[in-house]
Parts: sequence; structure tokens; C-alpha cells
Amino acid sequence: MYKSVIRPFLFQFDPEKIHHFTFASLGLFFKIPGMKKLMKNKFHQKDRALEREVFGLTFKNPVGLAAGLDKDAKRYKELGALGFGFIEIGTLTPKPQPGNPKKRLFRLKEDAGLINRMGFNNEGVEAAVKRLEKNKGEVLIGGNIGKNKTTPNQKAIDDYKMCFETLFPWVDYFVVNVSSPNTPNLRELQDKKPLKNLLNTLQKLNREKEARKPILLKIAPDLNNKQLLDIITIIKETKIDGIIATNTTIGREGLQSVHKSEKGGLSGQPLTKRSTEVIRFIAEKSNRAFPIIGVGGIHSADDALEKLQAGASLVQLYTGFIYEGPKLICDINRAVLARERQL
Ligand SMILES: Cc1cc2nc3c(=O)[nH]c(=O)nc-3n(C[C@H](O)[C@H](O)[C@H](O)COP(=O)(O)O)c2cc1C
Repeated sequence: MYKSVIRPFLFQFDPEKIHHFTFASLGLFFKIPGMKKLMKNKFHQKDRALEREVFGLTFKNPVGLAAGLDKDAKRYKELGALGFGFIEIGTLTPKPQPGNPKKRLFRLKEDAGLINRMGFNNEGVEAAVKRLEKNKGEVLIGGNIGKNKTTPNQKAIDDYKMCFETLFPWVDYFVVNVSSPNTPNLRELQDKKPLKNLLNTLQKLNREKEARKPILLKIAPDLNNKQLLDIITIIKETKIDGIIATNTTIGREGLQSVHKSEKGGLSGQPLTKRSTEVIRFIAEKSNRAFPIIGVGGIHSADDALEKLQAGASLVQLYTGFIYEGPKLICDINRAVLARERQL
């Protein structure tokens, strides 16, 4: 139904406009009495064998929503009801900001991909907290945090600290995003010295809390092996809880679409192979010393299984969810169950 009726309709429109329309419709749809229950019955795979204990949290299944789709925590309940085991909100910044000028999101149909240069458009961390105050805890929430565009890199730590403190009571884990290609110079924060400084600062704040929360680092797929080895050392030294691999790529290999030269981060099928390579490299070189959440070009259950086999403990979807619809969550969970029963 999604691929034969809904997607052809949605794909006729500008991708950003249709995103807002779909989000509004999702809200209305779930207001229909009985709809939430119906959706849960249709899409939820309830099985203890799907549960995952990762960095001290219990995930009801290993398939999450990646950051960027529900930046402002507007639809985490509805998206949770579609079967996701966890929802990552953000990237959030201290102050609201409009992001880059439009048009900034492109659908690469021939490549089953997207290019975006959104630039952390979001309503600010406090607006998200207001929505999270209404959370009934039905789904785990990750808080992905970043810095405002106008904050220079030398002061970036203050932005991350502010987001960390403000979100702390409302999320289950944190993601430090220093890997978006769409905020000028942000990726420089992935360099050894600033990165260690940032993660140590957040860890210090974390340890001062009554009960600390997991902190993960989200990395770019464009790092070379030497940089990935440095990241592994930093994770071990700062003792943060894990990695999300990967964000979008600035690479443009083998694309067909007319939009292939647009600036921004590329996601979807063209990213599948590289993000799995990064996961495998980190898992092997670190001797699986910490958990990895695998994301990048998961469009089928097999893509997800491959990432889990490469060393991911959990996976996340964004572009594949747009192209394949909510059934993909269910398909992946079924495949995970089937694989488990074989073992
Ligand atoms: C339109 C769009 C916006 C995104 N915004 C964010 C963001 O704000 N923060 C972030 O960490 N990742 C963001 N991402 C990256 C995704 O979370 C994900 O890491 C990436 O798209 C690769 O996964 P995919 O191929 O399944 O889309 C965004 C991706 C897209 C397509």
C-alpha cells in the first residue's frame, strides 16, 4: 500500500513541503479513535527475543528512527506507534534557528537517495522539552545535540553543555553530533583535541548527575582509517558509551540523478556500503569494546542484517523509511527474529 499508493502520491511534491504535510497528517491520523491501537497491531513485532540490552537500556526492538526526521520532538509518539524501538530527536541547538535557505532537500529517485543541506533547522532545545514533558515513556528517546550556526567552534562546548543540561531529564541517551556536513566547520570538531575536550566536558557533567545517561558520538562516513582509529582511542579514553555510524556523506560516487551535484549530505542507498564498512572497521579494530548503532542506506531487512553482522548492536532508518514506508521496520524485526531462531 505504501509503495503502490502513498509513495507515488507523496513523491509528486517538493520533499520538504511534503515532509511537513505528512507530519501534520500523521498527527491527525492518530487522533482518530482506535487508530493507535490499530497501527500497533499492524506494525508492532512484540517478542522478547527482539529486546536488546545496550548501554544499560532495554530496547524493545533493535530498529530506531535516525536523527533529523523528528528534529523538534513533534511526532515521537506516533512514530513510536509505527513500531520503532527508539526515536532519536534533534539535532537540537540551544537557540532556534531557521537552517539554510530553501531549496535544501533533494530526492534522488534513480539512486534511492536524498541530498540535504538543512543546516540544523530546529525550534531550539527548550521547545522540544515542552513536547517531551508530555512523554508517557512508551518509546525510548535519544537526544541528538549540536551547536548553533552563529556559535564559533571555540565556543561550541557551551552550546553542547546547554543542550545536555536542558535535555537531561527528558531523554534516555545522548548523541553528540559533530558530523553534519551542513554547518560550516562543524566536522573540525571531530579532530582529536577538540573532540576529546568536548566529550570529557560532557562526561564530567554526566558524572555529577545522580544517575548518568549514555553518551554516543555520531561520526561521518568520510573519515579515513587513521581518523577512525583515533576515534576509537578517544571513545576508550573518554569512556563514552558508543558510536553512531554514520551520518550523511559528502561523497558523490556513481550517482545518476539530476540532483547529484547539489551541495549537502547524501543519504540512502548510495551510502549503504560505506557505512557498513565503517561499522565493520570500528567493531574489528576496537574488539567490539563498545556498542555501535548502525545507520546509512538501510532499505531492506538484508541491509539491516548486514549492519548487525558487521558489528552494530542496533540500527536506525531515515531515507529507507521514506522510500520503503513503515513496513520496513516490521520486515527488519521479522528478519532479526528469523535469524535468531536459526542460530
Ligand atoms: C533530511 C535529513 C536531515 C537530517 N538531519 C540530521 C540531523 O539533524 N542530525 C543528525 O545527526 N543526522 C541527520 N541526518 C542524518 C541521518 O540521521 C542519517 O545518519 C543519514 O541520513 C544516513 O542514514 P539513511 O541513509 O538511512 O538516511 C539527516 C538526514 C536527512 C536525510
